[in-house]
Amino acid sequence: MNFEELALKYGTPLYVFNIDEIKKRIEYLRRKLPNIGLCFAIKANSFVIKEIIDDVDRLEVCSNGEYEICKSLEIDKNKIVLSGVYKNEDDFFSIMANKEQVGHFTIESLTQYELLKKLAIKHDRNIDILVRLTSGNQFGINEDEVEKVFADKCPNITIKGLEYFAGTQKHNLRIIEKEMKHVSEFMKSLEDKYQVTLEEIEYGPGFPIYYFQGDEFDEDTYLNEFNELLKTYFEGRTITLEIGRSLVADAGYYLTKVVDMKNNKNGNFVILDGGIHQLVYYGQSMAMKVPYFDILSNNKQEKENDVYNLCGALCTINDLIVKQLEVPKLELGDIFVFKKVGAYSVTEGISLFLSRDLPKVVLIKNNKDELVRDVVNTYKINKPNYKEGE
Ligand SMILES: Cc1ncc(COP(=O)(O)O)c(C=O)c1O
Repeated sequence: MNFEELALKYGTPLYVFNIDEIKKRIEYLRRKLPNIGLCFAIKANSFVIKEIIDDVDRLEVCSNGEYEICKSLEIDKNKIVLSGVYKNEDDFFSIMANKEQVGHFTIESLTQYELLKKLAIKHDRNIDILVRLTSGNQFGINEDEVEKVFADKCPNITIKGLEYFAGTQKHNLRIIEKEMKHVSEFMKSLEDKYQVTLEEIEYGPGFPIYYFQGDEFDEDTYLNEFNELLKTYFEGRTITLEIGRSLVADAGYYLTKVVDMKNNKNGNFVILDGGIHQLVYYGQSMAMKVPYFDILSNNKQEKENDVYNLCGALCTINDLIVKQLEVPKLELGDIFVFKKVGAYSVTEGISLFLSRDLPKVVLIKNNKDELVRDVVNTYKINKPNYKEGE
């Protein structure tokens, strides 16, 4: 990948997602976790789905918008786990009425269960569900409510198992073990009490990404231990891991250019054409941590170091990417290539703020680049009377 060429060809700010790297990452996870299904949580990056759909077993889709993306990409609906804390009746009405063969639906509340049941009966559908056990937040339901779903025994609904999302950036395997033990014991108690077999556990492990320089992580050892825990607690079940961040983060790059520089009272300030609306590093606090990056400069001469506050293009003092960064002297036109930007930055940023354009998105496949989204003007939707297609 030649970022200089990409910046010249597409301009900045720019996202680059390397599909070749994602495929290698999936191969690595498959090697470390043999016989375990992989479900890509598409909220992390909806631009790479089509390219990796044959490499993963499922996609976790959490909203009607995400479902529409999959439909437009002609994704096999059997691979979809339709999840989400808010399931809208109209959306599910059309899925049921159109007899769309969605692989699994999750149940995140008794209201959702009643809705899906009503629609399945009305449209004479048989659907497979995973009941989501909560890990203590607003997602999923408590054990007693899970039991109410099991007690109901609706003939149109087959309960395949449980879904459990532990949270994101889960470093501590002892906490993970405690949670797995709890889920496993609960599954066994459901099987005994309701005389059912729970074939599946769909587990969101929240595998961590270490975003900042100086962080250390022995991923091989972590995954070996994690794999042993899966065997201990879920042997005999179909295990699918729902993963977003860990699948795609490392394969993403964000290119942003130095467009202004000044020395104000508190030091050197560099203004970039990107910013925190497009670049999200989980765990970045007050811009104190240093993410991984390279600098592309037309001036190849050796330069002395200087210290800079890297700021984005938003009118908020929060738009600080890194504070007090020591690097070789910067110049206008230098480009920062921020790394590990493949997950969430492109989908989660506060992109509408200040009506800045959304960046182009480029995929790298077999070492070739392909533009998959052109610049999007957000000013058009940040004003009254927006008309689609304007
Ligand atoms: C239900 C569910 N599964 C999987 C994920 C993906 O999490 P991560 O990106 O930490 O792997 C999320 C993220 O919010 C989620 O809500």
